[in-house]
Amino acid sequence: MKLTIIGSGYVGLTTGACFAKVGHHVMCVDSNPKKIETLLAGQIPIYEPGLEEIVKQNTASGRLKFTTSTEEGVDFGEIVFIAVPTPPNPDGSVDLRYVEKVARDIAAVIKGYKVIVDKSTVPVKTGEKVADTIRRYAPSVEFDVVSNPEFLREGSAVADLLDPDRIVIGANSPRAIAKMQELYAPFVAPVLVTDINSAELIKHAANSFLALKISYINHLSAICDAAGADVEKVAEGMGMDKRIGRAFLNAGLGYGGSCFPKDLAAFTTISNQLGVPFHLLSEVHNINTVQLQRFIKAIRDTLWVLQDKKLAVWGLSFKPHTDDVRSSVAVELVRQLVSEGARVTATDPKGMESFREFEPELAGKIALVDDPLAAVEGAEALVIATEWPDFAEVDLNEVKKRLIAPLVFDGRNLLDPWTMKELGFQYHCIGRNSAARS
Ligand code: UGA
Repeated sequence: MKLTIIGSGYVGLTTGACFAKVGHHVMCVDSNPKKIETLLAGQIPIYEPGLEEIVKQNTASGRLKFTTSTEEGVDFGEIVFIAVPTPPNPDGSVDLRYVEKVARDIAAVIKGYKVIVDKSTVPVKTGEKVADTIRRYAPSVEFDVVSNPEFLREGSAVADLLDPDRIVIGANSPRAIAKMQELYAPFVAPVLVTDINSAELIKHAANSFLALKISYINHLSAICDAAGADVEKVAEGMGMDKRIGRAFLNAGLGYGGSCFPKDLAAFTTISNQLGVPFHLLSEVHNINTVQLQRFIKAIRDTLWVLQDKKLAVWGLSFKPHTDDVRSSVAVELVRQLVSEGARVTATDPKGMESFREFEPELAGKIALVDDPLAAVEGAEALVIATEWPDFAEVDLNEVKKRLIAPLVFDGRNLLDPWTMKELGFQYHCIGRNSAARS
């Protein structure tokens, strides 16, 4: 099939590349000529395992094309995806101006029947507004609007796209449903066909539920510390119940990234607007905020005064296997340590460049080094903020030698409490502190 993806950011590019990989002909559109130039030169502007190779192979085979022209794109595809950013407004609602602009741009150039698919994460009822907008500016042209939310995790987006748990198609027209089923025919996954509003809600409801699981286990981690229990064992025991499942019950510093915090705020706002406030979600958010504060308090309780103390921080990205530092709890942690006067030396396997780009002011206040061992040199303590497997490989005896005191605050339960104890570290972790001390 011939497909067009408008917006060549993280979601648009991964979706376009993977559709090309399964045999479709894809044209990716982006209004940023620099981005299109980079892509045409075979480089990808983000770090996502496996993506660059797929982009290169499919560009070479001619199945994946790039353009800055919306008209060329809309003329090309039978299905046109909207995959533009939906950033948060300061009040938590979603800024839909890019989606609205693309709807107008499509209306300006659409000539015959197209299926217009919303891939961007949007509040319920956005599909209706997209349809109204196109109808207003192109009243005589036939089209259908579909909601087809993405469930990609950064760092494993290619695998999530090629081997999804489910495909959700929200559509109100049999013609559009048939086109979408043809599109997804090469994928082996259950397909759920719903109305547009339900599909939009599925995305917000799923992300909010995952965030709820994380906050649940994080609050439990504090109870475990207070009661002398081990949160990993509690999670394991809970997770063995198939109705609960072990996934997303990893206690840590809380969730971050460009999806959960934003989607939770958006879902809270839209439920308020619908007159059905979702108070539970506010508590999920509160627990997430308190979790980081509790961790910083543990550092403060041990080191007493942070002013002028050198601290090593391992991790800046919001989770491992990505260079994304947006709404990263690790970055927030660094910000707060710096605001208390600590001298931070940080390292991250992939996130340092984007940290410099997105947080130039904060980056100017800390030292950044490539080597985790260089980061701990002469530091009062090591703080682990992101669970990169690379950090688990570092020689802990060497870490101990280089630290002023053998003090480790592990915000992601990356290391083993018993090993740390055996090696003579004072080890603080999340909800496993009785294990670390027994
Ligand atoms: C999330 C969802 O998992 C995807 O299904 C969804 O498509 C995507 O948002 C999106 O809306 O686009 P992502 O934000 O890439 O994906 O990352 P996750 O792997 O879900 O992790 C989110 C945050 O939760 C990270 O900060 C991670 O460290 C944290 N987390 C995750 C925990 O603290 N504990 C866990 O057990 C799992």
